Amino acid sequence: MVTAYAVSLNAARTDRGAIATVVTITFAQMSTSIDVFAKAREHERIAQLKAARDLDALPYFHTLEGPTLPVVVMEGRRRIMLGSNNYLGLTGDERVRQGAMDALNRYGTGITGSRFLNGTLDLHLELEAELAEWLGVDSALVFTTGHQANVGALGTILGPGDTVVADSGDHASILDGIKISGAKLRAFRHNRLDQLEKRLERATEDGGGILVVVDGVFSTEGDVAPLPEICDLCSRYGARLMVDEAHALGVLGARGAGACELLGVEDRVDLRMATFSKSLASCGGVIGGPADVIEFLRIQARSFIFTASAVPAAVGAALAAVRICRSDEGRDLFAKVLDNAAYLHRGLSELGFHVVPPTRLGDGTEVITPVVPVLVGDDWKAVFLWKALYENDVFVNVMIHPAVPPAGALLRTSVMATHDRETLDRALETFAKVKREFESEHGTLPGGQ
Ligand SMILES: Cc1ncc(COP(=O)(O)O)c(C=O)c1O
Repeated sequence: MVTAYAVSLNAARTDRGAIATVVTITFAQMSTSIDVFAKAREHERIAQLKAARDLDALPYFHTLEGPTLPVVVMEGRRRIMLGSNNYLGLTGDERVRQGAMDALNRYGTGITGSRFLNGTLDLHLELEAELAEWLGVDSALVFTTGHQANVGALGTILGPGDTVVADSGDHASILDGIKISGAKLRAFRHNRLDQLEKRLERATEDGGGILVVVDGVFSTEGDVAPLPEICDLCSRYGARLMVDEAHALGVLGARGAGACELLGVEDRVDLRMATFSKSLASCGGVIGGPADVIEFLRIQARSFIFTASAVPAAVGAALAAVRICRSDEGRDLFAKVLDNAAYLHRGLSELGFHVVPPTRLGDGTEVITPVVPVLVGDDWKAVFLWKALYENDVFVNVMIHPAVPPAGALLRTSVMATHDRETLDRALETFAKVKREFESEHGTLPGGQ
């Protein structure tokens, strides 16, 4: 039973002769045939989920029973982890664990309040200062998660009169921020500069401010945005540019400061976003940019003000990880993870898998990021391939529509700096065996490049 309030508006003549609106509100218990819970029972995803469960082939929600390291214990077995974002392997690093424990011991288990009101620690300020220096920005603001950083920045900087131009491969948190802002969205197909330019042309006629927002490294495809060209287009059309460095911070560039550093455009990008949930082995997010803009977010971003500050252990771990990245050791770690990525990429390609090709930069060099996706195409084929790998103790991620375009299902594999060659070789042998068996039963998988 749903309580309904029936409202009727009637025109009536007042005793002075003027027309007035008489509002009659009738409070009534009325039943409605629409139940908001219906979608939870009838959504097509529910049927898919059930089918996958019935076939014992659900690739999601598998439980870890220990830390996320190159080899994990998952559901009672040791499995090679090729499905995490722990790119530098720092979740197991003693100094990072110590950073978390020191913060836990000093500040307790939680802060129980928002950073705005009563939840800012001196650790947050230290972390913000380190991040601003590392990114080479005026100022930085730390959020409780990366998702909240994107939602907070975009939902605050953009307004209903503005236009935002976004790559179709941008992370969901970017789209969520755009939705909240009420700005007009003009999306362009992944990395298509010609389409970006067309959207910018149209955006100049919209009459408001224009922001272009892209991932530096795309979370699913693992490719790098053509940032120099995007910067040129932004300058030509008077647009601001924001880059999400979630998968690039601690990985790309000599300082590990991300795709903007690698591509030499740091001083041409207006806002930089990153998360702590990948290379920094923790949880949290950051927006870096001009001091006045960051100050505005500090007092205005709802996902910053109206949520609890991260637990101290998360802040302490992130700070320790940032310090490792910024030390001499950082360079070795960045080199190792990229080397492992190239090794896995080459191995999978040689086995005949269709691996997303490396990104070719303007100077002809190729970049292979730690995200190495294997294209499969069909959703169910991807799921069964995942299952076969899992049963052979290799864990990867599966991306199906709507995370990828229809018929664009893929296995998302990723490496850590701490994977050794023997482990990667074992994973490749498993891929080879699974491919042979899979193809003999289900037909050929999409071939190499
Ligand atoms: C590109 C990108 N941006 C933002 C986020 C959100 O970050 P977090 O998981 O820290 O909330 C993610 C997380 O997967 C991401 O991949």
